Amino acid sequence: MAKKCLIIYSSYTGNTEKVALRIKSTFERNGWECDSFKTRKKAEDILHPPFDVNDYDFLCVGSGLRVHLPYNEVLNILRRFRLGFDPRIALRNRDETIPYIKEPLPDMPPPFDDPDVLSHHGKIVLGPDSKKAVIFITYGGYEFGPVEAEPSAQLLALEVEHLRFKCLGTFCCPGRFLNHPTPGTFHGDIRDRPNEKDLLKAEMFIEEKLEEITDRPALE
Ligand SMILES: Cc1cc2nc3c(=O)[nH]c(=O)nc-3n(C[C@H](O)[C@H](O)[C@H](O)COP(=O)(O)O)c2cc1C
Repeated sequence: MAKKCLIIYSSYTGNTEKVALRIKSTFERNGWECDSFKTRKKAEDILHPPFDVNDYDFLCVGSGLRVHLPYNEVLNILRRFRLGFDPRIALRNRDETIPYIKEPLPDMPPPFDDPDVLSHHGKIVLGPDSKKAVIFITYGGYEFGPVEAEPSAQLLALEVEHLRFKCLGTFCCPGRFLNHPTPGTFHGDIRDRPNEKDLLKAEMFIEEKLEEITDRPALE
């Protein structure tokens, strides 16, 4: 039976979506079933996602950046799966909420000594048989270039590993930001990015990861 991949991403101006579509076609060309889900700033996407990550063998998570961070709805949908409940309950501990979710929160957040909450915490060890994941990011990087995408990539990697998907790596490439050649920036003019070369690199990145995880019979 074909192995199943899920791509979860958010894209406001279409840059990350181009990468997501290329990743999808690469999985399919390699014989995988591949579903993709573009999250929106919608309560139903976060509270009632139309899929279960546990049904998949491989998870790809993608986002653009705003103010140095990935889009909130990507983080929140992953948090929803990690916590098993409305992520606003956990976000209260950071004095944050999700403004587009209007449904009232349950009266009492689970107390920290509640056994149900304690059962969420425990050392996680991911081994060679764990399911796999990759992160992909498009970014402007005007000041520092690729390192600007690293904190977001690590944050998303941490979330997917909490979901028991071992993160095999991150693909980052510039994505059109301002409608100006921006000659004084790290990457210079990125108005055509991601371009075909970036998408080919995304394709190669996935091909390499699939090669890495291909079972080969051991030598006698
Ligand atoms: C309001 C705004 C804030 C942004 N902030 C950052 C940032 O902090 N760091 C960065 O590298 N890129 C930043 N960008 C650039 C986007 O991350 C980049 O254009 C990305 O490719 C957008 O992806 P999308 O088209 O999939 O939404 C910003 C873009 C906008 C419009």
